[in-house]
Amino acid sequence: MRTTTGWQADGPTTLRRTELKRRDLRPDDLAVRIDYCGVCHSDLHAIRHQDSAAGALVPGHEFTGVVTETGPAVTRFAPGDPVAVGNIVDSCGECGMCRAGQENFCHAFPTLTYGGTDRLDGSTTLGGFSREYVVREGFAYPLPAGLDPAAAAPLLCAGVTVWEPLRALGVGPGSRVAVAGLGGLGHLAVMMAVALGATTSVISRSSGKADDARRLGAHGFVVSTDPDQVAAARDTFDVVIDTISAPHDLGPYLRLVAMDGTLSHLGHLGPVTVDTMDLLLGRKKLSSAGSGGRPATAAMLEFCAEHGITAEIELLPSARVNEALDRLGRNDVRYRFVLDLSDLS
Ligand SMILES: NC(=O)c1ccc[n+]([C@@H]2O[C@H](COP(=O)([O-])OP(=O)(O)OC[C@H]3O[C@@H](n4cnc5c(N)ncnc54)[C@H](OP(=O)(O)O)[C@@H]3O)[C@@H](O)[C@H]2O)c1
Ligand SMILES: [Zn+2]
Ligand SMILES: [Zn+2]
Repeated sequence: MRTTTGWQADGPTTLRRTELKRRDLRPDDLAVRIDYCGVCHSDLHAIRHQDSAAGALVPGHEFTGVVTETGPAVTRFAPGDPVAVGNIVDSCGECGMCRAGQENFCHAFPTLTYGGTDRLDGSTTLGGFSREYVVREGFAYPLPAGLDPAAAAPLLCAGVTVWEPLRALGVGPGSRVAVAGLGGLGHLAVMMAVALGATTSVISRSSGKADDARRLGAHGFVVSTDPDQVAAARDTFDVVIDTISAPHDLGPYLRLVAMDGTLSHLGHLGPVTVDTMDLLLGRKKLSSAGSGGRPATAAMLEFCAEHGITAEIELLPSARVNEALDRLGRNDVRYRFVLDLSDLS
């Protein structure tokens, strides 16, 4: 086993610095020195709802770094290459979903970057709030030149999670898109929808982020707590991308979807209650998705490099991870914390 250092959650509140073990390299593995890891709201959900029986929790599933070693069967990477890893690190490789390049929907469930079960040795995966990760090369992506490695890290979870549905729903010139919740996922969804050519609006709880939304390229802004603005926006969006991190009623957001349009519910996952009348009136569709398959992830990185899209970040030394989590929980970030892991060397 190899030894590295990381930030481990022992309970629902704080992370502490600790020594971690990584597997020795298998033939198709890379060792990655992690330089930057984004802090996703899913990390916060995982820490707060930690199942202590599941073993150690080291969060972090959107990171960039540099390849330091390669196994003998690795063909696409060499030591020194800039690399990016997202929130899935393996899948069965054989089911229909995997064969279709949708490893994120693998019938045997993909191996998550942390809290997953390694398919060969059964160990629990430990995430990117650490200095080193060992990953199969097939689930690592070359980081395109021109993308700042710190600001690109959030593309690997937040970015691809909104990218895949935007593409699958055919968003392009002429589409009317609204993004509900202007956070880590939401601000990337706005930039991507705008770059795809869509007329794009933000749905937020107050007008406090209106200037930012405009700066990100949004054309419209709807304050979800203002009944007049909500009424005026009824049935006007072909696609509503819902990235809200708290449980919420879908009705108000479905009512903003245009006839035959789709509400893509990506944020707080779990059971929801839907009044079918909100679907019936306008033949509307409700959908969800998560993460991305390998082809979509690679395409997303190329698109972002071409259009100069990266996250707006607040970069903190990893020793301030607990402060980042606390502020994220209070919605006090514009728009993604990224940890600089060089303090773990
Ligand atoms: N599907 C997936 O695979 C996937 C992947 C990554 C993350 N997620 C989930 O997506 C959600 C968003 O993640 P994130 O990292 O983007 O979080 P984030 O940066 O905290 O952004 C969430 C946004 O939701 C809005 N919001 C928060 N509380 C709200 C409430 N009570 N009512 C209405 N709006 C509220 C806020 O936007 P405004 O201030 O604009 O109102 C906030 O900026 C999380 O639940 C996360 O677990 C899912
Ligand atoms: Zn995430
Ligand atoms: Zn599969």
